[in-house]
Amino acid sequence: MGDQAKLSAGGADFEYPILKGSVGPDVVDIRKLYAQTGKFTFDPGFTSTASCESALTYIDGDEGVLLHRGYPIGQLAEKSSFMETSYLLLNGELPSKDELTTFENTITRHTMLHEQLATFYRGFRRDAHPMAIMCGVVGALSAFYHDSTDIADPEHRKISSHRLIAKMPTIAAMAYKYSVGQPFVYPDNSLSYTGNFLRMTFGVPAEEYEVIPAIEKAMDRIFILHADHEQNASTSTVRLAGSSGANPFACIAAGIACLWGPAHGGANEAALNMLKEIGTPDRIPHYIERAKDKNDPFRLMGFGHRVYKNYDPRATVMQSTLREVFDALKVTDPLFETALRLEELALSDPYFVEKKLFPNVDFYSGIILSAIGFPTTMFTVLFALARTVGWVAQWNEMISDPGQKIGRPRQLYTGPTQRDYLAIDKR
Ligand code: CMC
Repeated sequence: MGDQAKLSAGGADFEYPILKGSVGPDVVDIRKLYAQTGKFTFDPGFTSTASCESALTYIDGDEGVLLHRGYPIGQLAEKSSFMETSYLLLNGELPSKDELTTFENTITRHTMLHEQLATFYRGFRRDAHPMAIMCGVVGALSAFYHDSTDIADPEHRKISSHRLIAKMPTIAAMAYKYSVGQPFVYPDNSLSYTGNFLRMTFGVPAEEYEVIPAIEKAMDRIFILHADHEQNASTSTVRLAGSSGANPFACIAAGIACLWGPAHGGANEAALNMLKEIGTPDRIPHYIERAKDKNDPFRLMGFGHRVYKNYDPRATVMQSTLREVFDALKVTDPLFETALRLEELALSDPYFVEKKLFPNVDFYSGIILSAIGFPTTMFTVLFALARTVGWVAQWNEMISDPGQKIGRPRQLYTGPTQRDYLAIDKR
């Protein structure tokens, strides 16, 4: 028998198996705990709870390591493409040349949206936040593509996964076009996944749009950096929604809604807004003091992470990509200087050092996206676009597991105990 964890409760002793993963902390299998002891565990925020078994992504937060199917994020960002990383996440192995070509062709065939969806967009207020549009339109996909929503059928799951990955750039670009009052641009399947997205976003029917290779590469790398991130809030939301048997379009819409929050994907928008508010480096100390003040709700956005207690490896790649984008566009942004100085000052401040608060993926991404031409409201949309592959891969992994159950957490109830209803004239 393997290692066991011992627990004493109510004068009796219990033993629970300790399960080992391929790497990372072991877990105590407490599935029989309630049946044996009549007790639940209490872990709001899941700080010590593994909610599932997964073979997709591994993070070592102390060492600042992120692996997709075993491959370090730095290597994927440097050598792979978003399409290849997507294949890897979905299928477990890097593709051969032929497999990659077939996968890219399949995704390319699904880039168009049902034409009636254009009417759906026009129902939104012109000033709607693009994330609100994303939640609505992605949820609505299930009303348009019902021929692929039998989740028990692996072929249906595959088709709907491909559709989601392929259509997300079209949906995101249309959300942008709608917000700026420009006509929607149809996909051009002669372009790469990322080149096509840039053209649908920044192109106009009146003139030819030329994709700048350096920007296409940078954008593709940004997509790779956001592709998956283990059991974060939005991925857990997708899994929980999917555990009830909901269709994948509805599940991804739930993930998008969760991602929107400023503690999660919305942090890239919040980080750039914060840098704009700080403005010049001389104002940084004031904001660092505010971030440290427990009576002030202000936090340094793009700083800190639930899992990383070291430099987020994605932030390192993001910083070098930022320099490449500036070089390619021959631009600079004074906010980059402010960001670098803020990082330097925070990382030498005992508050941030002791709490192990480092820049995360969102700290520099806003400056790059802004240089490429995206408004802040689109930042989280781009995160959602890229994370869709991770959500879909995690959802598929969960549904393919024959032992999968509906997710149903328990609670520590602290409300009133049973009492009798009192007629209104007696209250
Ligand atoms: N600025 C100032 N103090 C902070 C910050 C920050 N950005 N982040 C954490 N702290 C403090 C926090 O006040 C707490 O202090 P104490 O122990 O004295 O109460 C301590 O550090 C631990 O923070 P926590 O909120 O308990 O940690 P958490 O794991 O629940 O939160 C987090 C993680 C990412 C929500 C948080 O660090 C944060 O709000 N950061 C800013 C938002 C942000 O950048 N989010 C993007 C995350 S990366 C992309 C993604 O996954 O979506």
